[in-house]
Amino acid sequence: MITIKPDASLLPLNTMRIDGTANYLIEFENADDLHRLLTDSACEYAVRNGLKPIGQGSNLLFTRPRYDGALLKCTAGNMAIIAEDCDSVTLRVDAGVELDRLIARCCDDGLWGIENLSLIPGTVGAAAVQNVGAYGVEFKDVVRAVNCYNIAERKTCTLDVSEIAYGYRDSIFKHQPAKQQLIVTSVEIRLAKSPTPQLGYGHLSSLVADSSDIKAIRQAVISLRRSKLPDVDETGSAGSFFKNPIVSDHRLEEIRSLAAAHHIDTSAMPVYDVADGKKLSAAWLIDRAGWKNAKEGHAAVWGLQPLVLVNADGKASAADIVRLAELIVNDIEAKFGVTLSPEVEYIP
Ligand code: EPU
Repeated sequence: MITIKPDASLLPLNTMRIDGTANYLIEFENADDLHRLLTDSACEYAVRNGLKPIGQGSNLLFTRPRYDGALLKCTAGNMAIIAEDCDSVTLRVDAGVELDRLIARCCDDGLWGIENLSLIPGTVGAAAVQNVGAYGVEFKDVVRAVNCYNIAERKTCTLDVSEIAYGYRDSIFKHQPAKQQLIVTSVEIRLAKSPTPQLGYGHLSSLVADSSDIKAIRQAVISLRRSKLPDVDETGSAGSFFKNPIVSDHRLEEIRSLAAAHHIDTSAMPVYDVADGKKLSAAWLIDRAGWKNAKEGHAAVWGLQPLVLVNADGKASAADIVRLAELIVNDIEAKFGVTLSPEVEYIP
């Protein structure tokens, strides 16, 4: 079923809790609904300015008081087993399913692969688009295929995981021209029936007594996240605001000497080897540059994890958040010569 709501409040549609209005909020369940929406002339006014798919708005920043188009939200919430062999189960999960509801169910059923992603806010559709990740696991690790509706061709299609060009918080879905947009309708994931614990990140393993106990791993991840990250039901935020920067090997020495010139000791700076160079910790850079608990208007840097910007008292405007982000980017550029890029998507 399609529901078209004109002048929809943005407040329940973004976890940063920025107020505003969207011209339209269109809720749909499946590809047939999308097809009807695009072919029904009565809906033409709602789709004219483009469709922006959203999940729970946990990675978005509405930068203006009015979003001048239509937001598109999947409300379907089914998950079903579509294949099974002795080692694994493949599920088809609707884009509108809350990611943590899926993870809770998988942990109850002893299905391994996404327990480290516990408590990440958002929907399964959004997880497949932005390849969410935590504690050494990325959503792409379990994705087999993504079912979509192609707006330009007005037909459904299925992309195999090999066609999605997954990278760090990245996929082809984030690089498509508006008119050829692929709207995710459901995601097929494969999970293991026997334990595949991934406890190599930080001190996660020290929090889990029995590595074959999937529910204990889920609880450990939940308590780790709760100890560092704001609860989006209490404090508006969009998770990590910036990506961890990746720099070429030879830039490291420049970064260290620029930091030294600013009296910042980089001897304990986290540096991780990745395929295309060295990954740095944005949280560490922001912390050492002195931004923990900094405020700009009603926006603030979260004291327990400075990669997270928050709507401190619920009254922040998008401009407060954008300004704070700019100040941080400029300062990290000056002190380390590293340009942070937002992980959060700015909606014009
Ligand atoms: N750190 C500090 N000061 C702090 C906090 C952290 O210096 O106050 C440094 C520490 O050196 C720490 C390092 O930052 O070891 C990494 O911190 P953390 O383990 O929290 O990981 P992260 O790289 O900052 C990423 C994801 C998070 C995910 C965590 C855990 C990105 C952009 N963020 O953060 O994802 O939960 O790893 O796996 O990749 C999100 O995307 O919204 C998100 C929360």
